[in-house]
Amino acid sequence: MKVLLIILLLVYAIGATRPPRIDVEDHPVQEHDSIGKFVELKEHQTIIFKCSGPHDDLEFKFPDMSDHKGYNEVTYLNRVEEVNDDDLGDRVLTITNVQQSDTGAYSCISLEQSSLNDTIYVFVHGENTFIPSIIAMLSYGDEDVMVPCRTTMFVDKNDIELYADGQLIKNAMKNYDHRFGYKIDKNIYDEKLSDTRFECKYKKEPNQRVFS
Ligand SMILES: *[C@@H]1O[C@H](CO)[C@@H](O)[C@H](O)[C@H]1NC(C)=O
Repeated sequence: MKVLLIILLLVYAIGATRPPRIDVEDHPVQEHDSIGKFVELKEHQTIIFKCSGPHDDLEFKFPDMSDHKGYNEVTYLNRVEEVNDDDLGDRVLTITNVQQSDTGAYSCISLEQSSLNDTIYVFVHGENTFIPSIIAMLSYGDEDVMVPCRTTMFVDKNDIELYADGQLIKNAMKNYDHRFGYKIDKNIYDEKLSDTRFECKYKKEPNQRVFS
């Protein structure tokens, strides 16, 4: 009897440290080494996330969309619904009429222990290959800045080019991440950084570019 109790406690303890799992219904979840789990949608579709795990305090975290042109918090919240799926203790998040500015990382976390989390990156294909941004550059640590050329679809990195004042920067793609953009070493540009005009292009559609 005592042994059984100990085993039950152990199973419970192991379960409680298992991270929640986030999934998407009706759209295939793909996976890539560089960005993990991701889903691709077209504008106006609906996405339903389900988060499950041995926790009763699961909550969704939304991407930071504050610099996405076209993002409006009020209309966004009108398209979002988050409920508990009582049968299973799961948490369900539905976003209707998705927009390209909804592109970003959606996570599910245990409130008490936020290191227990799981993330899916969502790309929403719209009219732009890059999410139009209201800011040109993001500081990133002391040494780096980020040119926020984030794509609205999972394109081949080799097809994304970075230009500085019209000059192609070779090998920039090794510092490229679909989710954040191009990381640039500040030291290369010294004080000139703020005068430099960065631009990203998608080779397959040269008209698709982000002016920074
Ligand atoms: C998710 O967990 C990882 C470690 O497993 C942690 O680095 C990250 O900050 C967590 N995310 C959140 C939103 O707390």
